[in-house]
Amino acid sequence: PSQDGLKICCIGAGYVGGPTMSMIALKCPEVQVKIVDISAARIDAWNSDNLPIYEPGLHKVVTACRGKNLFFSTDIDEAIQEADIIFVAVNTPTKKVGIGAGRASDLTYWELAARRIAQVAETPKIVVEKSTVPIKTAEAISAVLHGAGKTRFDVLSNPEFLAEGTAITDLDNPDRVLIGGQLDESGQKAMDTLADVYAHWVPRDRILLTNVWSSELSKLVANSFLAQRVSSINAISAVCEASGADVDEVARAVGMDTRIGPKFLKASVGFGGSCFQKDILNLVYLCESFGLPEVAHYFHQVVHMNDYQKERFVGRIIHGLYNTVTGKKIALLGFAFKKDTGDTRESASIDVCRRLIEEKAQVAIYDPKVEEEQVWMDLTYACKMDKTEVQKYVTLCPDALTACKDAHAMAVATEWDEFKELDFHQVYDTMTKPSFVFDGRNILDHATLREIGFVVYAIGKPL
Ligand code: NAD
Ligand code: UGA
Repeated sequence: PSQDGLKICCIGAGYVGGPTMSMIALKCPEVQVKIVDISAARIDAWNSDNLPIYEPGLHKVVTACRGKNLFFSTDIDEAIQEADIIFVAVNTPTKKVGIGAGRASDLTYWELAARRIAQVAETPKIVVEKSTVPIKTAEAISAVLHGAGKTRFDVLSNPEFLAEGTAITDLDNPDRVLIGGQLDESGQKAMDTLADVYAHWVPRDRILLTNVWSSELSKLVANSFLAQRVSSINAISAVCEASGADVDEVARAVGMDTRIGPKFLKASVGFGGSCFQKDILNLVYLCESFGLPEVAHYFHQVVHMNDYQKERFVGRIIHGLYNTVTGKKIALLGFAFKKDTGDTRESASIDVCRRLIEEKAQVAIYDPKVEEEQVWMDLTYACKMDKTEVQKYVTLCPDALTACKDAHAMAVATEWDEFKELDFHQVYDTMTKPSFVFDGRNILDHATLREIGFVVYAIGKPL
């Protein structure tokens, strides 16, 4: 359906706001989309050739629409005033201080955005929760909007399910679009308007309309279930190492059961990313506050298992290198939390590196996409050290070969395709002997590596 003249604004030009709104602009040429942010640097980057986030295919989508029906701006008030639909895609990190610290979501940015909307909106607005939020947030937001505002607001929940690294294909062909709203007449109309936006390219039977609480909860549940699968296979990887089974063979055999399915059963050094841990902890916190400690405990185990897996990987390295890594050079390949992104939020590499620093190893890091400054920020924060102190232990390298030169061990922490293509004969020649490989992603050809002379340890594999 044509929605000629419809104006959309999105507050928050991050990993979610940028790609999702660009896709809407691409698929709905008659709709004007404006993305706004408090960070002028981010907006400048969106308006440049050097986009603030790396995501395959994103550049093409942005350049196809930018300046036509897609705009990036810091004029938040103007965008709010013009818009019919306002998406809010601001960050909702785990609270660092106060009640619920370490678990509950910090909704400060969300509330600030809502108060801004209430202050400047003069005509009725559909306000859409795009950020991941705790259940009942829509109720609080609605109270803020109606308490401080002078017009009518319909608050909808429309959580985002894209994964980084595949955001554009995920958005182009989503498994489903979820829209939650109030079931009164005005809420229904708002849901229909938003559904019509997605219906430009998503089949109607994949657009689910639910009550607002189901929608908010489903997002936390989806991430918790996905993370649970990773923790389950990682737990089994420990059993494999203890027993001689091969975790990839087990995952394949189990995943071919159509009731279980093959996806998200790749054993790894541990899951990362800005959301899995945050969203599980949020669910745990909500369960505790609903008086459901058993449910909270059940999901908390997913995070504990992930911490265990990261620590187990570090333990493998130390144990493999004759119980000490002090002064030994270790090449850490990959710093992003997964391939095809430059994002390092909650990356397992950060914890692995921090632990190696605690053991006084010399860590040489290479990642094809992560910015140098980001690595220093992550490590100074994680290690509670200043940059000069961290630099006593860590060097950043321009490529994998440089990182591996003279190293006692290579540890693969991110599954970048280019690591599979390395000339391992050359790598072997430059490394200290005996040369160890710790494959935290099971992406390398272990038999060939052993033939070359490497000692290979992999997740959930027989030694
Ligand atoms: P992000 O940090 O990349 O982007 C958030 C942006 O909001 C930042 O640019 C920040 O400057 C801006 N912002 C904060 N407060 C603002 C305000 N009051 N006014 C204007 N701009 C403001 O975060 P993200 O990764 O895009 O995540 C956003 C939300 O989406 C989170 O709730 C997250 O849980 C959820 N989510 C993320 C992903 C993902 O893959 N990253 C996927 C699905 C859902
Ligand atoms: C995840 C979800 O997949 C998205 O649906 C959701 O929208 C998003 O979180 C969010 O809410 O932020 P993302 O974190 O970007 O997306 O990436 P994933 O592909 O889910 O990977 C998360 C982590 O799990 C990565 O560190 C990845 O390497 C790890 N992983 C994933 C495994 O170790 N094994 C697997 O089999 C799958």
